[in-house]
Amino acid sequence: MIRKILKYGDPILEKVAEAVTAFGSPELHKLVADMWDTMYAAKGVGLAAPQVGVRQRVLIIDTSVGEDESKKLVLINPEILSKEGKQVGEEGCLSIPGFREPVTRANQVEVRAQNETGETVVLTGEELLARAFQHEVDHLNGILFINHLSNLKRDMIRRKIKKLQKAGEWD
Ligand code: NI
Repeated sequence: MIRKILKYGDPILEKVAEAVTAFGSPELHKLVADMWDTMYAAKGVGLAAPQVGVRQRVLIIDTSVGEDESKKLVLINPEILSKEGKQVGEEGCLSIPGFREPVTRANQVEVRAQNETGETVVLTGEELLARAFQHEVDHLNGILFINHLSNLKRDMIRRKIKKLQKAGEWD
């Protein structure tokens, strides 16, 4: 089931999400299934539970955007263990549609998380996957990619969004 993706301005997007403690529940299974439907419908690479209004530390990533089943990742309670190197690349967010800006991120990231059944997994990612890890873990901490931009850039985007809100083109 496709859920509504919250847009920038919704306070849930800027709150710290809570750790998942109950694994194997039908609710968690349904949340993850719905997140896949929602992310693919929006043609995204990653989605965090707060973006669908659920304040839990759950995220999904598929850098192949549905082309390669083996790229599908479900990370629950993820923690970034280490970061190395630097990359600069255009970044966008399903909660801030229409805006893309260069963001500096670490190029190599190691993450520890739990899977849907609660087992601990350690994953490493480079380039786009490393960027996705950092972007999505940020979501669980109430941080959006525009928080990584200069004040000037961020204010410019905020002003444009305010105009869209006034025009009823941002809900
Ligand atoms: Ni995002």
